[in-house]
Amino acid sequence: MSAPLNKKVFIKTYGCQMNVYDSEKMADLLAPDGYGVTEDPQEADLVILNTCHIREKAAEKVYSELGRLRRLKERREAKREGMMIAVAGCVAQAEGEEIAERAPVVDLVVGPQTYHRLPELLKRVEKTGGAVVETEFPAEDKFNRLDKPAAAAPPARGVAAFLTIQEGCDKFCTFCVVPYTRGAEFSRPVERIEAEARALAQSGVREITLLGQNVNAYHGEGPNGEPVSLSGLLTHLSAIEGLERLRYTTSHPRDMDDELIEAHGSNPKIMPYLHLPVQSGSDRILAAMNRRHTRDDYFKIIERIRRARADIALSSDFIVGFPGESDQDFEDTMALVRDVTFAQAFSFKYSARPGTPAAELDGQVPEEVKSQRLARLQDVLKAQQLAFNRDCAGRTMDILLEKPGRHEGQLAGRSPYLQPVHVPAGTAQIGEIVHAKVESVGANSLSAHIVGIQ
Ligand code: 5AD
Ligand code: SF4
Repeated sequence: MSAPLNKKVFIKTYGCQMNVYDSEKMADLLAPDGYGVTEDPQEADLVILNTCHIREKAAEKVYSELGRLRRLKERREAKREGMMIAVAGCVAQAEGEEIAERAPVVDLVVGPQTYHRLPELLKRVEKTGGAVVETEFPAEDKFNRLDKPAAAAPPARGVAAFLTIQEGCDKFCTFCVVPYTRGAEFSRPVERIEAEARALAQSGVREITLLGQNVNAYHGEGPNGEPVSLSGLLTHLSAIEGLERLRYTTSHPRDMDDELIEAHGSNPKIMPYLHLPVQSGSDRILAAMNRRHTRDDYFKIIERIRRARADIALSSDFIVGFPGESDQDFEDTMALVRDVTFAQAFSFKYSARPGTPAAELDGQVPEEVKSQRLARLQDVLKAQQLAFNRDCAGRTMDILLEKPGRHEGQLAGRSPYLQPVHVPAGTAQIGEIVHAKVESVGANSLSAHIVGIQ
C-alpha cells in the first residue's frame, strides 16, 4: 500500500533520454514515501535537478537554476515551509562535493548509480540537517532495487515510453565524460527487461524506446543463461502483445552487427529510424577521438542498413572543433554529410570536459572557428531535414497518436521516422496507430489527416 500523497516533488530533467527515464524512476521510488509529482517548483517540498554533464553549458545551467532555487527556498522558509534540494545525474557524479560547496542551498548530491537509495538518503538529510553527498559506484545492483514492486510497476505513462536496457560505456572516446559519470558497461538481463516492457504494454504503452549509452553493445543474460544481443532482445520484445513499435538509442558504429542490420529489414515492429553518431568525417579526427572506425567503415554500415531497409531515416551526432581539427578535416565532415544525407541530426561545438584525454590535447580550436563551422554544418543538416520532410508530403504513413496537440481538436503523434506529426483527432484516439496522409510539412514537423485505422 502506498502512503497518501501529502508531499510534492518537482523534478527538472536535463540532457538525454536516460535522464528522463531516471527521473521517472526517482518519482516511482518516492511515491511510497508520500511524494506526488508537481509541475510547479513553488509548491514543492523537494526539488530534484537531474543533471547532464556532457557539455559545458549544461552544468552552468544547473548552477544558475540553483541560484533561482535558493531564492525560492528562502521564500518558502519565510512562510515556515521547508524545501529540500537535490542534485542528481551526471553533474552530481562529476562534481560531487564541489556542488555542496559552491551551492550551499543543496541538501543532497546523488549520482546516477546511487539514486535508488534516494528515500533513505533524504531521511539522512532530514536527520542530520547537513548536506549529504553520495556518488559512489556501489557494488549492489541499482536495477535490482528498481525492480522491487513499487518502482517496477510504473503508473501509466502515456503511450510511448523509454526503457533503459544498458548503461555505461567502455569505449572511452577521448572527448566524452560518460565512461566516468555512468561507469562501465552493464546490460540488464532479458527477463527483467521483458517484465518491464510487458507492464508498460499492459498500462497502454504502444511504443518503447530501448535506452543505453551504447545500446547496440547490449549483451544481457538470456533466459537460459546465455548472453543475448540487441537483435535477440528485440525479437523477444516483439512478441509482447499490444507493443507495436520498438526503437533503440544510442548506437555505436562498431557494434552495428549484421543481425541487427537484418532485423531492420525483417522485423516490422522495429521502426525505420537509426541514430548512429559519427562525430566527424575525418579519419584523422576519428582516430584522435578514439572512435575506432574510419569514415569508410561508416559509409559501409550505412550502405548495408539502407539495403536492409531502404526508407530508413538516419540521424547522427557531430562534434565540430575537436582539438587539431583543420579546415580540411571539417570539409571531410561536410562531405560525409552530403554523401549520407540525414533525416535529423544533432551537432555541437567541442567542449573540453575536465578529466577527459582530449581536454589535454594541443590544438584547441578557437571559439569563433567552432561557431563558423557549426553554423555551416547546421545549415546543411537543416536543409537535409527539410528535404526529408518534404519527401513525406502526400505519403500515407502510420502515426502513433500520443498526446493532445497545441490546438483544440488536434493530437500530436509520431511517424515511423520519429517526426512529430499534428493530426486532427479527439483525445479518445490517443494510443491508436492510424494511417494518415501527410498534407503539409515544416522544418520540424508534419501535418496529416487520418485516412484509416490500423
Ligand atoms: N563536446 C561536445 N560534444 C560532445 N558530445 C559528447 N561529449 C562532447 C564534448 N565533450 C556529444 C557527442 C555525443 C553526444 C551525446 O554529445 O556528439 O554523441
Ligand atoms: Fe561517450 Fe564514446 Fe561511450 Fe558514446 S561511445 S558514451 S561518445 S565514450
